[in-house]
Amino acid sequence: MKEKLLELKNQALAELDQVTTPDQLKDLRVKYLGKKGPMTEVLRGMGALAAEERPIIGQIVNEVKSELEEAINAKTEIIEAGALKQKLETEKVDITLPGRKQTAGHLHPVTLTLREVKKIFMRMGFEVMEGPEIENDYYNFEALNLPKDHPARDMQDTFYITEEFLLRTQTSPIQARTMQSREPNSPIRMIAPGTVYRNDYDATHSPMFHQVEGLVLGENISLADLKGTLETFCKEMFGNTVEIRLRPSYFPFTEPSAEIDISCVICGGKGCRVCKQSGWLEILGSGMVHPNVLKMSGYDPEKINGYAFGMGIERIAMLKYGIDDLRLFFENDLRFIRQFK
Ligand code: PHE
Repeated sequence: MKEKLLELKNQALAELDQVTTPDQLKDLRVKYLGKKGPMTEVLRGMGALAAEERPIIGQIVNEVKSELEEAINAKTEIIEAGALKQKLETEKVDITLPGRKQTAGHLHPVTLTLREVKKIFMRMGFEVMEGPEIENDYYNFEALNLPKDHPARDMQDTFYITEEFLLRTQTSPIQARTMQSREPNSPIRMIAPGTVYRNDYDATHSPMFHQVEGLVLGENISLADLKGTLETFCKEMFGNTVEIRLRPSYFPFTEPSAEIDISCVICGGKGCRVCKQSGWLEILGSGMVHPNVLKMSGYDPEKINGYAFGMGIERIAMLKYGIDDLRLFFENDLRFIRQFK
């Protein structure tokens, strides 16, 4: 019995010597030390032994078991260390490679311009309002003194969702929305930036573009206030040398109305494609708020008056950065966009 056990041990140790992988180790452990292995078998057969032999054999079984256990554990460590070493040798990390560059994005020129416009007006005490891009006929036209059959509607053809709802053609509906959200006759000094839509497409028009509306209401506000504020804005935006001019115009919601032009910064006033050879660039429409507009939104034109204006952000960006085609803003050509980093 004793010889058989020692033989088993030697056989196991010899096999252990040949083992090279963790899987083989596992199999070997099961084969010799598992529940169906020879050690268990010997222990089971102890009943047949003489009483005085049992403790001796039992002790030997235990010794062989723990010896094998130890040998297997030691081999496990060796195999695992070998596997790690091999991994370290084959999976090489080149620490001299340059890192992957994180390229930070930057703001679009339209956003940059919009932010600057907002900043200038906020410094002058204007609050910033917003309104929906899907607007209804009432706010986009009617409340601005453009009844259903008004011919001036033709100049602002847009995308209709239903007969009632359309993509707003201007930020002016926020004038009426702001007045109606206030205590009647309370003073207002706000700007309202936003996206607007029109059926237009050429070097200076895009079907989607951005405007900033302005509305100032109070007592005894004059055209001089309008001119002073907008001249201050233009000089802050384009520098002190820029000239402005007020040109009589027409908007159904202002009376009198004036178009404000600035001297063309692309050609210096000589005439080019962008200023259509005139030397001037129209950047905003403005005027004194029409009494009907005040009345319709609950304000009393006998007590309160004021001015309104609306400017195109892309147009301002074009002048500021010397861009001669507005469509570049929306073509997403990175060679163009990246110049504004
Ligand atoms: N809403 C006008 C436009 O889009 C601009 C404007 C706004 C004119 C406010 C006068 C007063 O053309």
